[in-house]
Amino acid sequence: MTAASTPQAANPAPTTNAALYEAARSVIPGGVNSPVRAFGSVGGDPVSMVRASGPYLTDAEGREYVDLVCSWGPMLLGHNHPAVVDAVHRAVDAGLSFGASTPDEYRLAELIAGTVPVERVRMVSTGTEATMTAIRLARGATGRNLIVKFAGCYHGHSDGLLAAAGSGVATQSLPGSAGVTEAQAAETLVVDYNDRAALEEVFAARGSEIAAVITEAAPCNMGVVTPAEGFNAFLRQLTARHGALLIWDEVLTGFRASDTGYWGLSGQPEGWAPDLWTFGKVIGGGMPTAAVAGRAEVMDLLAPLGPVYQAGTLSGNPVAMAAGLATLQNATAEVYGTITRRSQQLEELLVGALTEAGVDHSIQRAGTLFSVAFGTSDGGVRNYADAQGQEAFRYAPFFHAMLKHGVYLPPSVFEAWFVSSAHDDAAMDRIAKALPHAARAAAAATA
Ligand SMILES: Cc1ncc(COP(=O)(O)O)c(C=O)c1O
Repeated sequence: MTAASTPQAANPAPTTNAALYEAARSVIPGGVNSPVRAFGSVGGDPVSMVRASGPYLTDAEGREYVDLVCSWGPMLLGHNHPAVVDAVHRAVDAGLSFGASTPDEYRLAELIAGTVPVERVRMVSTGTEATMTAIRLARGATGRNLIVKFAGCYHGHSDGLLAAAGSGVATQSLPGSAGVTEAQAAETLVVDYNDRAALEEVFAARGSEIAAVITEAAPCNMGVVTPAEGFNAFLRQLTARHGALLIWDEVLTGFRASDTGYWGLSGQPEGWAPDLWTFGKVIGGGMPTAAVAGRAEVMDLLAPLGPVYQAGTLSGNPVAMAAGLATLQNATAEVYGTITRRSQQLEELLVGALTEAGVDHSIQRAGTLFSVAFGTSDGGVRNYADAQGQEAFRYAPFFHAMLKHGVYLPPSVFEAWFVSSAHDDAAMDRIAKALPHAARAAAAATA
């Protein structure tokens, strides 16, 4: 670009949502830096946010919304929690990045290892990196190539994990992604969630080639799907029987579905643990941090100790570590109690409004996380086919009615709803007032 064609600094910056989106689209593909932020499946222009506080977001036009996205999970304590902001300010004052080890890295790792049964934790910057590393580790540890994943589960955007992925891939109705080679796709075997017989079959046919099964601890990226009774324990037994590893993706559910993630509701009471775990979102408290963790025997295969290479310029970044540590240190039993109560209250309000408006639906839950699926009262959602078969057309008018009445929901029916410990009575009142409008809009929708 020549200097003459560079946008002129003298031009006033756009200040409306529509103008900002227009400006963004001219320089950013689709105007967004992550497809889930686009309003592709609900229509209209994405809203540009400029500020956040407690349970609220404020857009470029000064409109305030109760936030039920919570940055897609990380904001467990609400936005700009004073302890987190203080910790970040202190970290920033000390230096943005050192490219060397720092004390907070091992404190955060210790905190994670003190909460769930893992012996080693390696910090990375995104959930995608965490699952990608876990897959490489599983292949390095077993000497096998194949990975089993479930249709509708999302584990980030590394090549091998995009087959039949949920979240943005589901929202845009894509089977996978262009740019993934056939060879990579052939190394990922996709099975229906909650389908034990299909898994038995895959392992009977190719068990000796399978390095790992990767699963969301509870799927939350095709909407929430509650694992069938005993399904996760079955995965543990099946993988162990065939010498494959179980990769337990808690990027979304970790430190959020409960204080010990979804493992606290599944593996812990049943007395088992996976081989490798992935974390993200809450452990960074709103800054880019994620982690891969597990037994020392497997994790110590990572460089510099072992032959499995993994690295990151900004891994364990001190500002991100400070945000994550402060978030987890303030994630008390009281915080989880509030989130549990608010999440149940939200579900009751939602079910009440939908029932009153005569909208057929079901609610799927995983600890403090839940989502709604329209037209699914007969059987609920057990897998990706059920999620895709719902009356998704009801969501766009529902979403826009909530937005109009000051509530920011995920702009896709295939996402979980997130609350924080900052969601107070005033925020819940606003949601309660908005829901009947949205439920009526959903009732009136036609395919
Ligand atoms: C279960 C799960 N795994 C992995 C990821 C990828 O994380 P990131 O977006 O930080 O790359 C996500 C993101 O939503 C997720 O929900």
